[in-house]
Amino acid sequence: MTRRYSLPDGMVDGETMVVPVSGTREALFMIALTAVPATKNGEKPVVLIPNPFYQVYLGAAVMAGAEPVFVPAGKDNGFLPDFSALPEETLNRTVLAYYCSPANPQGAIASMGTMKTLIGLAREHDFLLVSDECYSELYYGNPPTGAAEACAALGGSLQNVAIMNSLSKRSSAPGLRSGFVAGDPDLIRRFARLRDYGGAPPPLPLLAAAAALWSDEEHVIANRATYAEKYKVAADVLDGNFGYYSPAGGFYLWLDVGDGEDAALRLWRDAGVRVIPGEYLAREADGYHPGAGYIRLALVHDKDTTAEALTRLADVL
Ligand SMILES: Cc1ncc(COP(=O)(O)O)c(C=O)c1O
Repeated sequence: MTRRYSLPDGMVDGETMVVPVSGTREALFMIALTAVPATKNGEKPVVLIPNPFYQVYLGAAVMAGAEPVFVPAGKDNGFLPDFSALPEETLNRTVLAYYCSPANPQGAIASMGTMKTLIGLAREHDFLLVSDECYSELYYGNPPTGAAEACAALGGSLQNVAIMNSLSKRSSAPGLRSGFVAGDPDLIRRFARLRDYGGAPPPLPLLAAAAALWSDEEHVIANRATYAEKYKVAADVLDGNFGYYSPAGGFYLWLDVGDGEDAALRLWRDAGVRVIPGEYLAREADGYHPGAGYIRLALVHDKDTTAEALTRLADVL
């Protein structure tokens, strides 16, 4: 973190402010058990969830006893949720907010200004901002701002912020199950205590392998370059169809195909290409479903396979 975000030495103390986890999925889930009290200001607590979203956020909110509030992150919002536009009443009940930049599935990246606003909002309304940064190293322009960087710009404290990152995307090592949570010492103490009861410490051989991967940037640079090549292929093959845009980060395509579920069925049946209907990655809220017309493609195969899949997709759709 210190290297990647040029943080002042000692701002993130490895002993007291970071805890290794067996991938961030479990951490995203468990943090809700740490952060959601029975009530806030005498009312049912709220968890803010970008819409569309990584499904674990919703499971965590519901199982921790909170009310999930979906915040639209459709095209009109630049594919990022605007938590600061929420009513005071909602923000006063908020105990936890999940935020993902680069975003899954849209690949949008929050600016430094947006990150600072989010952290300010979390402190003003005293909720925990969980910054899910597992796609932070897959970018195709400027490196995405991390919440830690914004905290540094705001004076250096990680208060009200939990930062999560993972080797799954940056190192293409999802099977290794290695990630971390960083936050202020009090949060990390409470979270580590929860893990002591409800989790298992990552095994030392895995931690040694993980340390080697976190310490090396060469393979990450090569990984990023491979994704950039696949995005070039996608731009050529899709040629502006299906609302194609080249995402700023991540490894997905978020394509506007009209009826996502129908497209997914046809792609599987007629082309042998497996995609996820956007409808399954979002929820309808206030009469608006930000995922219904979309499909999500993960560009995680090699370049030739990806090119073949995209060609078949363009033919079938
Ligand atoms: C947005 C997001 N967050 C977190 C994760 C969890 O990754 P891991 O548990 O492998 O660290 C994923 C995995 O797909 C994801 O897409």
